[in-house]
Amino acid sequence: MRRPTTIAPPKGKLGVMTVGMGAVATTFMAGVELVRKKMSQPVGSLTQMGTIRLGKRTDGRTPLISEFLPLAGLDDLVFGGWDIFPDSAYEAAAHAAVLSPEDLAKAKRFLSGIKPMKAAFDRDYVKRLDGKHVKKARNKYDLALQIKDDIKRFAKTSKASRLVMIWAGSTEIFLKPGDVHSTIKKFEEGMKKNNPAIAPSMLYAWAAITSGVPFANGAPNLTVDLPAMQELARQHNVPICGKDFKTGQTLVKTILAPGLKARMIGLNGWFSTNILGNRDGEVLEDPGSFKTKEESKLGALEYIMQPKLYPQLYGNMCHKVKINYYPPRGDNKEGWDNIDIFGWMGYPMQIKVDFLCRDSILAAPIVLDLMLFMDLAKRAGMHGIQEWLSFYFKSPMCAPQLYPEHDLFIQSMKLKNTLRWMMGEELITHLGSEYYD
Ligand SMILES: NC(=O)c1ccc[n+]([C@@H]2O[C@H](COP(=O)([O-])OP(=O)(O)OC[C@H]3O[C@@H](n4cnc5c(N)ncnc54)[C@H](O)[C@@H]3O)[C@@H](O)[C@H]2O)c1
Repeated sequence: MRRPTTIAPPKGKLGVMTVGMGAVATTFMAGVELVRKKMSQPVGSLTQMGTIRLGKRTDGRTPLISEFLPLAGLDDLVFGGWDIFPDSAYEAAAHAAVLSPEDLAKAKRFLSGIKPMKAAFDRDYVKRLDGKHVKKARNKYDLALQIKDDIKRFAKTSKASRLVMIWAGSTEIFLKPGDVHSTIKKFEEGMKKNNPAIAPSMLYAWAAITSGVPFANGAPNLTVDLPAMQELARQHNVPICGKDFKTGQTLVKTILAPGLKARMIGLNGWFSTNILGNRDGEVLEDPGSFKTKEESKLGALEYIMQPKLYPQLYGNMCHKVKINYYPPRGDNKEGWDNIDIFGWMGYPMQIKVDFLCRDSILAAPIVLDLMLFMDLAKRAGMHGIQEWLSFYFKSPMCAPQLYPEHDLFIQSMKLKNTLRWMMGEELITHLGSEYYD
């Protein structure tokens, strides 16, 4: 990809469209509103709190990322989206019970004004959900065209000059890429013939890309991780990224695992189990949806440890992931990790992690950063897979000839170097030889 020579300024409003207005989407919207009202802090958001070093360590140039790049400001964000339930963002946030009643009350007026449009939904793809706020159509192609109409209408009513879309909907059943996903033509014919390998999330993605709207995928569904969608994104000059927000247990895993590997500490096994009681957990009780999530969660460790390169250290590693739906915990997940490691002369040791985490609190700043960076990428003329945003994902999308990069620290370096590259700044290698004779 060539370096962007110009980046169009972020003039006017940026319309953020969320597919699904559940726990993650409403926590994100409420947080943005409270930050705008100076009642809260955007903790966890790189675009709002992060800095970036430019030039030499002795130069003393470390601006905020938001000052370095022409990102959309929070005051310019407007929100819309879809859900299979007609509840406003306020009602959905109250149901999700992520935020305290006090915080929700502060955002009540704002959230009550955000009402979802009717969803493109099919129970065959999310078995544990049933809602009536859904579109009717002859076939999947018609459904996708209705989504395109929604996009146009939202741009008009919200007076947004630019749009971005994110899948924050439920995890769909496990699907494998097939012939129907291989080309744009086959995919579009497949929509007209109601091909079962085309899930609702793909209809939103098709509608977004063909409308020139960047699309990010926060769930482990295939959605845009398909040749047809990638070709479509190139044709329409649209950035896409995914998949599955990296929060909670996988975030911790991709922080710890690179550290163990960097020091050549051996690993016999990593057992991860969770209890969670939100709607996401309920959906994941269905074996089809769980399989999609499990595949996404299992990938990270194999890629980070590279057992083929280090057979003595990681060749016999056993990795298991369990998710248990346990309603009393609501959105407050508890994730346990038992890590069996070994050191010098093969002596065994153990690490235990007990993470009492809040899923949507960790996911909300990711949504914000993705939306601002995807808008930036579009204004910079970047299109197709945005691998530099791997930092935010459990199953990062990448070009077919590459393996995905899971190590959080490599991902972070890649992201910051991409920002420097976009702005014509020198890349930072951390070599540092220039400071010594
Ligand atoms: N919270 C996290 O830390 C985290 C991490 C990684 C991935 N995710 C993924 O993000 C997604 C959202 O998580 P959540 O906790 O907000 O779940 P949620 O169940 O609270 O919200 C999902 C919403 O999507 C709606 N929905 C489902 N299918 C739809 C469709 N076809 N069109 C429109 N709306 C649809 C549901 O009605 C629901 O309101 C899930 O797929 C989850 O797996 C979340």
